Amino acid sequence: MLLPHNLNPRPSETPMPLSAPWAAQFGLQKNPFKDTIDPRLFFLTKQHEEAAVKVKIGIEDQHALILLDGLSGTGKTLAAQVVLRSLDRDSFVPIFASVFPFMGKGALLGAILTEIEVAPARLTHDRLAQIQERALCYRHDGRRLVIVIDEAHFLSSDALHSLRTLSNLETEHEKLITVLLVAEPGLARRLAAPSYASLRSRITFAIHLMPLDQQGVEQYVKYRLLKCGGDTSLLPAEVYPLLHSLSGGIPRTINRLLYVSFIEAMSAGLPVGASTIQAAAGKRGALGG
Ligand SMILES: Nc1ncnc2c1ncn2[C@@H]1O[C@H](COP(=O)(O)OP(=O)(O)OP(=O)(O)O)[C@@H](O)[C@H]1O
Ligand SMILES: [Mg+2]
Repeated sequence: MLLPHNLNPRPSETPMPLSAPWAAQFGLQKNPFKDTIDPRLFFLTKQHEEAAVKVKIGIEDQHALILLDGLSGTGKTLAAQVVLRSLDRDSFVPIFASVFPFMGKGALLGAILTEIEVAPARLTHDRLAQIQERALCYRHDGRRLVIVIDEAHFLSSDALHSLRTLSNLETEHEKLITVLLVAEPGLARRLAAPSYASLRSRITFAIHLMPLDQQGVEQYVKYRLLKCGGDTSLLPAEVYPLLHSLSGGIPRTINRLLYVSFIEAMSAGLPVGASTIQAAAGKRGALGG
């Protein structure tokens, strides 16, 4: 444990994913490699714990603009969801704003308003005032609005510039809102342009989620196997260095590769080992390409 921060997800009412028939042949109750954002399957590898704990500190320390970035499939969305679920609802109002490619300022502010259950005004300028008003109401109740913008690299430049205004909303004593940007590394590269200097300077806390190291890969895979009713002996120790090198430590790629490996092994009537995984890596889609 890195820091004494409680990242436990609050209990959820949604049932665990249904079982996959092939999984039973390996003694599994369900598919451990399903590509889902399910906080109950979240495993605190060193990399994820570090990132999640820092994001939580950033929110609790009331930074106005925080960036969590990392390569696609590293687990940013899942880590952000876990942090959000762990926030005390008496002190925070966390929301997730959905983003789409080239999303403009008006649509972004509209999406935020919808999440806080305010009907968006027609004019963009009024939408900002609506968000401010709502955030002030929360503040009076002792709560703070936390807006997570996932896939923030999709935002158009006017939407990005509106984040500067959002992060400036304040009372006499403090900033009103925390905006957590979750993005691929392309966003930071975009923000390096001189026209974004003022937005960049407002990002006072930036966290980079690293791919898993070899130990992280092993812990991650074993955790998912156990969580789905399986046994860690399903995979021999020799597969972990191979999995690490083939996947680059990216959890989504590990999931795909192992899924294809298990299906291939099942059809061939073999156990999964290094040679099955090596062969699966050559199959279409196994490495995400
Ligand atoms: N620590 C973890 N514990 C369990 N599963 C994980 C973990 N990290 C990543 N995963 C799994 O890896 C997959 C990718 O995770 P996620 O979608 O959060 O990545 P991402 O970084 O947001 O990717 P993208 O940039 O493409 O949106 C998901 O299936 C997720 O469940
Ligand atoms: Mg994501």
